[in-house]
Amino acid sequence: MADTKLADTPILELQGVRAGYGEVQVLWGIDLVVRNGEITALIGSNGAGKTTLMRALSGLIPIQSGSYRSDGRDLSKATAAEILSHGIVHVPEGRRLFGAMSIEDNLLMGAYSRQVSSSELKRDLDRVYATFPKLFERRNQASATLSGGEQQMCAIGRGLMSAPKLLMIDELSLGLSPLLVEQLVAALRALNAEGMSILLVEQDVITALDLCHSAFVMDMGRIVRSGSGQDLLADPIIGEAYLGVLKG
Ligand SMILES: Nc1ncnc2c1ncn2[C@@H]1O[C@H](COP(=O)(O)OP(=O)(O)O)[C@@H](O)[C@H]1O
Ligand SMILES: [Mg+2]
Repeated sequence: MADTKLADTPILELQGVRAGYGEVQVLWGIDLVVRNGEITALIGSNGAGKTTLMRALSGLIPIQSGSYRSDGRDLSKATAAEILSHGIVHVPEGRRLFGAMSIEDNLLMGAYSRQVSSSELKRDLDRVYATFPKLFERRNQASATLSGGEQQMCAIGRGLMSAPKLLMIDELSLGLSPLLVEQLVAALRALNAEGMSILLVEQDVITALDLCHSAFVMDMGRIVRSGSGQDLLADPIIGEAYLGVLKG
């Protein structure tokens, strides 16, 4: 029988997490759970603190107080490198590719800190190319010459090259056409079906709630609501605040 206890241990478990930038407090006590094997969405208006939370989770800014655990391990004081090698991988807002470098070299940057053989690297690259065939076609092209959607594929592919247990994607669809968003969503579903846990920040609330198992709503540095994607889609308050729907 499978070890259900391990499977039940959340890949992300936050209690009372506070963080910010120097004197500027942004997160005011975040409680959030991402269950292993699930897609969890984080939604909320501009400036709510979603990016700041992802930056704190990936160790780019310190956690001032509260608890941050993953797979039962305390990461509240861990460095960015330790968090990455634990398997929590951040695909940042704006993609942050090396524009002059080829797609393949950008992808390989994702594996930079891993101690793996070249045959494992090749296998992981092939897996990224199978997920995003467009990247294979253009693998020798400078990443700056890609379309926005292809750049997002490359950024996610680079994340995959870091061997994530939890892939955190900040603003999946920003600036992309509906067709491309559909392709990215299909790719995330496929990765999740293979067992990858995903934490997604997405401004298109319907796309996010439709894709996810669970969702958390952030406002002014706090979690103000949570539930299954379906429950939140049916929630009149969410409809009013984020979908522009007035239910009467
Ligand atoms: N580098 C920074 N220094 C100071 N304040 C920041 C910085 N980055 C973001 N903030 C502030 O933190 C708050 C949350 O921003 P952010 O996490 O980017 O929100 P979201 O991703 O939900 O739009 C905003 O008020 C923003 O002005
Ligand atoms: Mg943001």
